[in-house]
Amino acid sequence: MAGRIPEQFIDDLVNRIDIVDLIESHVPLRKAGKGFQGLCPFHNEKTPSFTVSREKQFYHCFGCGAHGTAVGFLMSYKNIDFLEAIDELAEHAGLEVPRDKSFTKSSENSKELLITLEQAQTHFHLCLRESNDKTRAVDYLKSRGVSGEIAKTFGIGFAPDGWSHLLDTFKKKQGSETLLEKSGLIIKKDNGSHYDRFRDRIMFPIHDKRGRILGFGGRLLGDGEPKYLNSPETTVFHKGKELYGLKQALASDAGADSLIVVEGYMDVIALHQAGMTNTVATLGTAVTPDHLDKLFRHVPQIVFCFDGDNAGRKAAWKSLELSLSKLTGNREVRFAFLPDGHDPDSAVREFGPANFFKSCQMKSLSEYLIEMLKKDVDTSSAEGKTRLISKIKPYVTKIPDTTHRTACAQRLSHETKFDENIVRQELGLTITTRKKYPKESRGLGKFASRSLQEHAITILMNFPKLAQKIDQETVLFLGENLENLSDLITVWEAMHNESLTAARVLERFRGDTIEKVLLKAVSVESNLDESASEKELEGIFEKLRLKAQEMKFEAIKATPFSQLSEAQKETMRGYKRK
Ligand code: UTP
Ligand code: MN
Repeated sequence: MAGRIPEQFIDDLVNRIDIVDLIESHVPLRKAGKGFQGLCPFHNEKTPSFTVSREKQFYHCFGCGAHGTAVGFLMSYKNIDFLEAIDELAEHAGLEVPRDKSFTKSSENSKELLITLEQAQTHFHLCLRESNDKTRAVDYLKSRGVSGEIAKTFGIGFAPDGWSHLLDTFKKKQGSETLLEKSGLIIKKDNGSHYDRFRDRIMFPIHDKRGRILGFGGRLLGDGEPKYLNSPETTVFHKGKELYGLKQALASDAGADSLIVVEGYMDVIALHQAGMTNTVATLGTAVTPDHLDKLFRHVPQIVFCFDGDNAGRKAAWKSLELSLSKLTGNREVRFAFLPDGHDPDSAVREFGPANFFKSCQMKSLSEYLIEMLKKDVDTSSAEGKTRLISKIKPYVTKIPDTTHRTACAQRLSHETKFDENIVRQELGLTITTRKKYPKESRGLGKFASRSLQEHAITILMNFPKLAQKIDQETVLFLGENLENLSDLITVWEAMHNESLTAARVLERFRGDTIEKVLLKAVSVESNLDESASEKELEGIFEKLRLKAQEMKFEAIKATPFSQLSEAQKETMRGYKRK
């Protein structure tokens, strides 16, 4: 949606706003050293640890860790979304947000649909308390072990049997049929009349993370088909994007570092009720890339926990395939395989929350990947091992991050007893040369250079102008010969080519994986001196340049394994780790 507002406009806007002015109009601030200080509006405190920097256009609380830009401040302070914050800032700056007409129109329509869905929720909720048939519904929920409290948290309701309960409730209102139809709650017959979509079903409202209702899922009270019925796709509801339970998970587990993904509504309900409140579910669809992005926006770790049946195992594999391209930084994907015949709902009831994962077979992504692909390969022979590696290659190639690729290479090396460097070559990865390097340059190895990179980013985020001191040629050379420099190069490019300030870089990359790195860099309390920082930055780039030169040399020396003679291969296998 943000794409509808030109990036240039957001850039300009961020550039015009002064974060100190903005925050001061909400939170009293006083000058302290280079910046401003006040009582943090995001947690309770008596002594001020909330700091605002005009230079960085950034706020940071040393008490609770809250931090961000002007846009971010408004979003958290007023609990509004990105577009609303942009609107408000634009108003503050006396600018009009450029948008095309269709956008405004469709957003008005969405508003009406959201209101309709909210009213429908009130109706379903009321039916669970007051309809003639409410006892059956309440008994059903009791029989499934759903507590009153959890039913309330999730807004569970009831659509009684009959063709027009919802229709009749709305009948008095003008234009309600069109809205109900558009929101997927009623269906049009050939003769033009309508009937309720959900009949004799327990109703599960599906919220977005802000708590707006976008659609419903309904479960039959008795046997019958289909067991579950979901709202169709509408202008506000996209099954491939939403996650059931995310709102509740975020509300009760704001600081969690993992989210558990299950298949069913009842699984989410049961796990939340058992205290595992970091659980969400897809909505009767397979996991999509949008789901993964959404999940990774909130936590670095995802645990897929699907039913212990064939469909569940298929879903797990599909999730693995989709996850590969998302594995960057500290992200992690794990799989919890339930005992055969169990789903998370039944497992948590049988084993309890403390033993839930103990009852599962837990697997890391690389473990699961290798286990699956080695099923029809005889790995006792050298040929079989080589075949296994070549089967895994296309999967590993999809992983963007060196550390995760290395995890796969290491596991494969362990599995095949081939030297890790041989495995890396066969996988088409650059080889780790650390064993050959003298001690002093080891610190600069491909993985260790992460900290150098972070340091350089910290300096750049504090003094964006220093980007001009590093020339294009050097950066290109680094990019060609070192693997894990993409964050640094991205920041350098934004600052060097477009002269963006730190706050504008932050807004540019809002929601991207690099955002965390940037936030960390700008949050470091630094009394960095500009000219010292300049020397330091140049020193870092010089170190990186030397390293890149070394890597280039190594790459030339290394002959691909497949081009070696049989005897040479045997010799290299002799290097095996154990
Ligand atoms: P399950 O059948 O595994 O759900 O379907 P469940 O939660 O275990 O069901 P019960 O209530 O305990 O028997 C998992 C999910 O797949 C979708 C729903 O989203 C459901 O939660 N589904 C299932 C449908 O959309 N339609 C169906 O007919 C069945
Ligand atoms: Mn179930």
